[in-house]
Amino acid sequence: MKQTLRNLAEQNQLYMGTCVSYDPLVQDTFYREILAREFNILTPENAMKFQWTEPEQNKFNFKEADKLVEFAVQNKMKIRGHTLVWHQAVPPWVKNGKFTKKELMEILHNHIRKLVQHYKGRIYCWDVVNEAFETDGSFRHSLWYDTIGPDYIEMAFQWAHEADPDALLFYNDYDTENLNPKSDAIYSYLKKLKEKDIPIDGIGFQCHILDNPDIRLNELDANFKRFAGLGFQTDITEIDVSIQLSEGTLEKKIKKQSELYAGILKVCRENTSCKMFVLWGFTDKYTWVRYRKGHQDDLPCIFDEQYQPKPIFNELKKIIIKNPP
Ligand code: G3I
Repeated sequence: MKQTLRNLAEQNQLYMGTCVSYDPLVQDTFYREILAREFNILTPENAMKFQWTEPEQNKFNFKEADKLVEFAVQNKMKIRGHTLVWHQAVPPWVKNGKFTKKELMEILHNHIRKLVQHYKGRIYCWDVVNEAFETDGSFRHSLWYDTIGPDYIEMAFQWAHEADPDALLFYNDYDTENLNPKSDAIYSYLKKLKEKDIPIDGIGFQCHILDNPDIRLNELDANFKRFAGLGFQTDITEIDVSIQLSEGTLEKKIKKQSELYAGILKVCRENTSCKMFVLWGFTDKYTWVRYRKGHQDDLPCIFDEQYQPKPIFNELKKIIIKNPP
């Protein structure tokens, strides 16, 4: 198929995206070319995280993130800001500071305000809170939760909204695709926030399908529908799919991988609440998955290391066309 993924996505009201890292963006011409040609939205893989943007207290460093934003603006791509509050990528000065509740609230408020204001008007949506729940549906213990209490979540949404009222605000998490204790707990919690008029517009289903092939597409669909029932946008925000989910030849493994990518995009296209399908990296050359234990030889992306598209690349195009929103 001659049309690019980006053209087809744009003709069919879909944001087709990928996460983007600073080093390949500035060093690799092919990476830049494919990025601008095939995608209309990008998520900074790391550059907007706390550790990168505020490495020392109140001394902000926007160098890498600015470069990514500049690229997106030049190429008329939207940006998913990622991420304002997370238990990871917290700089040592925060982690080791032994701050009181009041101090930590001030630190988080200042961080969110300055970061969101810096990019005001240029960010389509923010992952405001990332991965705040455990698999069993309890709140995740983190510096934020343990020091401030669960209210850090709603505070973060309020502060982000005050800093840029036009950006869409998301809760983002993994292993929430199926109907399970984690997605149930997030559903009940976000419902409460919505009833309290906390400014939250969407939920991101990360879809890292790496260790467990047991993603049930009918349950992903049911999740989309119940969260959409609360008025939320329901997007795929970080998809990558291991080839290690099937036994047998490489061909068989890639077939299984394709089926999973295709099945998930199909669920997205069948739900009008799903407006984005964002890959966690588009080329095996730079995937974070290779740094994970047990995945050193994995090939989880839709382009291989030489930037050759895998068969799923054209499959995705067909699904975009066949399943209009
Ligand atoms: O850039 C430094 C480099 O200077 C240093 O020499 C090297 C030594 O460890 O580290 C480099 O930074 C690493 C960075 O990736 C860039 O490669 C960090 O250590 C490493 O922790 C970081 O990992 C990222 C991880 O989040 C933690 O922030 C991954 O790239 C990124 O793909 C991953 O993304 C997360 C999402 O944000 C949230 N959902 C899950 C997803 C996958 O874990």
